[in-house]
Amino acid sequence: MSKVTVVGSGNVGATVAQYVAGKDLADVVLVDIIEGMPQGKALDLHEAAPLAGHDRKLWGSNNYADTRDSDIVVITAGIARKPGMSREDLLKTNAGIVQEVAKETAKHSPNAIFIVVTNPLDVMTYLTWQTTRLPTQRVMGMAGVLDSARFQTFIAMELNMSVKDVRAMVLGGHGDLMVPLPRYSTVNGVPITELLAADRVDALCKRTRDGGAEIVALLKAGSAFYAPGASVAEMVEAIIRDQNRLLPCAVYSQGQYGIKDLFVGLPAVLGREGVKRIVELKLTAEERAALAKSAESIRENINVMNQLLVAV
Ligand code: NAI
Ligand code: 2OP
Repeated sequence: MSKVTVVGSGNVGATVAQYVAGKDLADVVLVDIIEGMPQGKALDLHEAAPLAGHDRKLWGSNNYADTRDSDIVVITAGIARKPGMSREDLLKTNAGIVQEVAKETAKHSPNAIFIVVTNPLDVMTYLTWQTTRLPTQRVMGMAGVLDSARFQTFIAMELNMSVKDVRAMVLGGHGDLMVPLPRYSTVNGVPITELLAADRVDALCKRTRDGGAEIVALLKAGSAFYAPGASVAEMVEAIIRDQNRLLPCAVYSQGQYGIKDLFVGLPAVLGREGVKRIVELKLTAEERAALAKSAESIRENINVMNQLLVAV
């Protein structure tokens, strides 16, 4: 029996719970500061179990004691980006929230693996590790799976082919400087660079980079949650079922790709212990420079965040 705690029971948190229970991966505790809301959403999801065909239990709480001994903690608590707001604008508010959530959850589940979702993603993942001081293989951020899923979707739409045959890889930070890798993105093993003109590949990369903002502009209130929720569930599944999936996640780099002491989106093998290893792909000088630039921007934001936290 596995137990997954999801802190933040808003759009992303509730969707994570739906997918995790729906895929029969674990029992789920939804936590939020709003009284009654996580309880209501958990009960509603529980009542869907006979229809979804699983026997997983879901419950909601405003009390961290109910999260004890979780196998995985997913942090989605925070505010979402609004139109015109950059992910970095979220830094100040969400740092305070994530610090508190990481501290409380780690206290009750010292052996858990942490998956961070709250934006700005790479910085909040770093903060979770900084707060909990857990081994780095047990702290990771979700973004690469989502950004890659978006890229896969756009490739399939462009080629009018099934998404089932499309694999894609997006590295770097979860922001405007993310690094989609067309050379490592394929349709059933065929690189998309063989199937599409260079300008179309560039257009798909751009749409991927702007993927979060595209949804924000359409929704007007709030940001994406269906694909993000499914992305977290894919990581949860890889961990709980010890699948050794190679997934791009925000992981702690200790020199890999020339990046040191930073959480950044890199291809990682996920299994029961969390991040089993980081896989180093051969990158062109251009790809490597783009990744370095993205990493540098994360480092700058970590410095800003640490200054803000000292000032509090
Ligand atoms: P939402 O506003 O629907 O839900 C956030 C929830 O967090 C709210 O219910 C709120 O009450 C709760 N919360 C706030 N402070 C809390 C605290 N101290 N303790 C417990 N709960 C608290 O927002 P949504 O759409 O679910 O997004 C959540 C976060 O995830 C945002 O920061 C968003 O930018 C980020 N996000 C990240 C993605 C990624 O790829 N990494 C994808 C989508 C969203
Ligand atoms: C996204 O990419 C908001 O980061 C979130 O949809």
